[in-house]
Amino acid sequence: MSEALVLTETRGRVALVTLNRPKALNALNDALIDELFAVLRRHDQDDGIGAIVLTGSEKAFAAGADIAAMQPMTFQDVYKSDYIGGNWEALRRIRKPVIAAVAGYALGGGCELAMLCDIIIAADNARFGQPEIKLGIIPGFGGTQRLPRAVGKAKAMDLILTARMMDAEEAERAGLVSRVVPADRLLDEALNAATVIASMSLPSVMMAKECVNAAYESPLHEGLLFERRNFHALFSTQDQKEGMQAFLEKRQPVFRHE
Ligand code: HXC
Repeated sequence: MSEALVLTETRGRVALVTLNRPKALNALNDALIDELFAVLRRHDQDDGIGAIVLTGSEKAFAAGADIAAMQPMTFQDVYKSDYIGGNWEALRRIRKPVIAAVAGYALGGGCELAMLCDIIIAADNARFGQPEIKLGIIPGFGGTQRLPRAVGKAKAMDLILTARMMDAEEAERAGLVSRVVPADRLLDEALNAATVIASMSLPSVMMAKECVNAAYESPLHEGLLFERRNFHALFSTQDQKEGMQAFLEKRQPVFRHE
């Protein structure tokens, strides 16, 4: 049997998911994306998991969609199969927080995959870019849409039109990345952040994620209403009673994630 393209293990309430095509710098082919989606969906549906860390190798988070697989494709091929639609679209619907722990290259579809995650923590050797223009194409899964939202129009245009890469420091300054850490600390830092998140009440974590994402997709008044309704809804949970009671009793809350 061939080796899995996506490895996964759990550590308490945290799932660690590792892209495992290191020789091809984790180039994203259909088989890898299928496996990735299956693994993420499994963790998403598992009540015992509260947060997910997605990572690659030391050299590459992912160097993009598989160029060898794409080279012979025709318009009819990609249109009829909705190439990169399908499962990629489904990745958006993962409801638990996903932290991208990015070391090395996150290029093209790799950068888009990182941007699909909720938080990006970068190693100091990380390099981000959308170099599709050099291949005679453009980004195909959100690069032209999510990158400007993350770093602003000027820098997004610069990266997308020139294909230049951005290092971790620039990515943090621009707002794409939440933290930069030494490469040998990357996984610990990401797993620690995930452990903190997974210790919070799961319904409030999921609603917080939904609400922040709504900020990108709705006018302010609708986003505010969506937030307020979710805020109100959380008063129906046992964890709200427990969280507040624990504060009043000066102790740590024991959340039951319900
Ligand atoms: C297929 C890839 C690949 C890719 C690297 N490899 N990136 N194979 N698709 N995207 C393979 C190489 O062919 C090589 O295989 C091996 O990985 C190591 O790569 P090298 O180029 O030898 O490494 P290095 O010299 O260190 O250069 C690293 C690199 C370069 C700068 C990241 O590999 C590179 O520019 N890759 C392509 C980046 C890119 O253009 N990405 C966008 C793709 S389009 P062999 O067999 O020779 O050892 C895209 C569209 C998104 O993502 C659409 C939505 C999904």
